[in-house]
Amino acid sequence: MNSRRTTAAALLLAAIMLISTACGDAGSKTQADTAAGTSAPPASSNTGSTGTTADASKSKPSDTPSASTTGQNQASGTSGVKQTAQTDTKSGAKQNASSSGKTGDVQVVANPADIAVLVNKTNKLPDSYKPQDLVDPNVPFTFKEKLEKRKMRKEAAAALEKLFEGAKKDNLPLAGVSAYRSHETQKTVYNRYVQKDGEAAANKYSAKPGHSEHETGLAIDVAGSSGKCAAEDCFGATKEAKWLAEHAADYGFIIRYPEGKESITGYQYEPWHLRYVGVDTAKAIVKQGVTLEEYVKNAVPVTKPKS
Ligand code: DAL
Ligand code: ZN
Repeated sequence: MNSRRTTAAALLLAAIMLISTACGDAGSKTQADTAAGTSAPPASSNTGSTGTTADASKSKPSDTPSASTTGQNQASGTSGVKQTAQTDTKSGAKQNASSSGKTGDVQVVANPADIAVLVNKTNKLPDSYKPQDLVDPNVPFTFKEKLEKRKMRKEAAAALEKLFEGAKKDNLPLAGVSAYRSHETQKTVYNRYVQKDGEAAANKYSAKPGHSEHETGLAIDVAGSSGKCAAEDCFGATKEAKWLAEHAADYGFIIRYPEGKESITGYQYEPWHLRYVGVDTAKAIVKQGVTLEEYVKNAVPVTKPKS
């Protein structure tokens, strides 16, 4: 009996250790959330927060947003969550959109593996979605460890390598801060920010699990190679940020949360958060001066964050 109890205690201890390792990103946040792989709310954000919190399958290798029902549809099981499709402005192909038209409705995207998939406060990924073609882009990061947050989808990783080469040629070497996050990691990250800043403030800079582009493997937070201002407001004033604003689209990336578009994207300005959408789409978005929400027809506007 005693030995059974001892065994049970040992098993329990092992389970606890496993869980804390899996959630090891949590609670170890630095200002750029380099441990967790998150994106950051700027130090001088309007959240009132005084801290420098951080924020963070091979589909067809095309950069045209398209395809709605990819065979990856999954019921969310979430009450009131719909699974629907949107129409892309360029290709006319169905994407992930609302059918009700009611602001604030949440639906599960039908095309989570599409390169131009719209993921935001009203369009969530299926809970079990995991990109099938995650790789480690061959670029420097602000940390040395082989962590999940280095990963990106294959097409995005290749484009990122080219973008980093381009920046380096212009004497502005970059470093990755945080790319892919699993659903579980995003849950941990989001909950940590809610604990730290409260839910209303956290919602301005951190996505709820299932709602983060980092879970698509198509987004990455970047900084200059020094790591200075990583995922902080001050990054916006750096030469690297200016270079990215000017050149990211040439490589298929957009600054996903632009300044002044908070009421559309639902998030405050994040000059460091790059989203891969493919060259044609990125260039069209820049040319039109729109957000991904505006670019994708029939997207449901996100609710303006409470201030
Ligand atoms: N910081 C962005 C919104 C995210 O958490 O995905
Ligand atoms: Zn980010």
